[in-house]
Amino acid sequence: MKVNKVGVVGCGLMGSGIAEVAAKAGMDVLVMEVHPDALAAGRGRIEKSLARAVAKEKLTEEERVAIEGRIAYTTDVADMADRDLVVEAIVENLDAKNDLFGRLDEICGPDTIFASNTSSLTITDMAAATSRPDRVVGLHFFNPVPVMKLVEVVRTLSTSEDTFASAFAFAKALGKVPIAAKDNSGFVVNLLLVPYMLDAIRQVERGVATVADIDTGMQLGCGYPMGPFTLCDFVGIDTLYKISEIMYAEYHEERYAPPPLLKRMVAMKMYGRKTGKGFYDWSGAEPVPMAL
Ligand code: CAA
Ligand code: NAD
Repeated sequence: MKVNKVGVVGCGLMGSGIAEVAAKAGMDVLVMEVHPDALAAGRGRIEKSLARAVAKEKLTEEERVAIEGRIAYTTDVADMADRDLVVEAIVENLDAKNDLFGRLDEICGPDTIFASNTSSLTITDMAAATSRPDRVVGLHFFNPVPVMKLVEVVRTLSTSEDTFASAFAFAKALGKVPIAAKDNSGFVVNLLLVPYMLDAIRQVERGVATVADIDTGMQLGCGYPMGPFTLCDFVGIDTLYKISEIMYAEYHEERYAPPPLLKRMVAMKMYGRKTGKGFYDWSGAEPVPMAL
């Protein structure tokens, strides 16, 4: 099935990027958020990103207007009824995602494909909450979506060949490079990336070096585009904590266990760049390491 009408549920860091790339690829995009304020914030994120692309001469003003014209916004999930594919990028919580897919299952036609951008939950657990497990697939994008080329396309035991092929083709149509992944918690990339980020936090807990020096070490010593703490703040400390809890519950391996410092930061709402404070204070022109 060729996807043209795309629904994006959740317009935070990831959903705004997914909506943007789908509209850039010429698709008809409908974005849904629970609350008008969150919808306005998500819309602002998309429009800022497109304005930046115009300022950098990556898009013309005419293209920006056309792209924005392809994105509609709603707070009513019932508006998703006519979509070919709905991808969710809401909070990393199985109950919330299953509640959403349960409602979409009643609203959308039988052919609509349901996709999840989950970082660590299994797609099978979501497919089981619907009456169409053959039409449920994982589409795991990377942050920032407009820049990162990879999409993991995740097949469960019940995902049909047609659904998988359609999702794979959809990722390609967005200009991404899809890879096939099995439905295990963390898929391919997060199985390796999450322990690395958590290990960096454990090194700070042990007093090995400062946050800034570990970041500089990994950037300049290994050529990583950003150090692990900048990356944690970029991903979101709240999201990383949820990912860690889910992966630890799945594997019972120490390397996925949430470090106590991560838990304390969540309690203090130090979610990283999205709240202005995480491992760094992002309120000024340059990030300043926090006293932890
Ligand atoms: N949205 C859109 N475009 C962005 C952007 C954003 N948030 N941030 C940067 N860009 C673009 C810039 O416009 C720029 O494009 P041009 O060169 O065409 O002008 C390009 O990216 C490079 O940006 P900068 O020069 O400002 O900054 P940079 O060189 O430091 O690159 C970065 C920024 C691309 C984010 C880079 O630091 C990077 O690749 N970091 C690592 C990101 C990463 O590892 N992501 C994966 C996170 S884990 C995940 O996503 C999975 C999960 O489940 C948690
Ligand atoms: P975020 O907190 O930035 O955004 C989540 C958005 O979902 C919020 O705007 C919230 O208002 C909205 N929302 C919550 N419940 C909703 C509902 N029932 N209906 C509609 N909207 C709802 O989170 P994010 O970083 O964009 O992460 C979203 C998903 O993508 C998570 O599953 C996360 O694990 C995954 N993911 C995150 C990253 C990352 O680097 N942050 C990378 C890949 C995948």
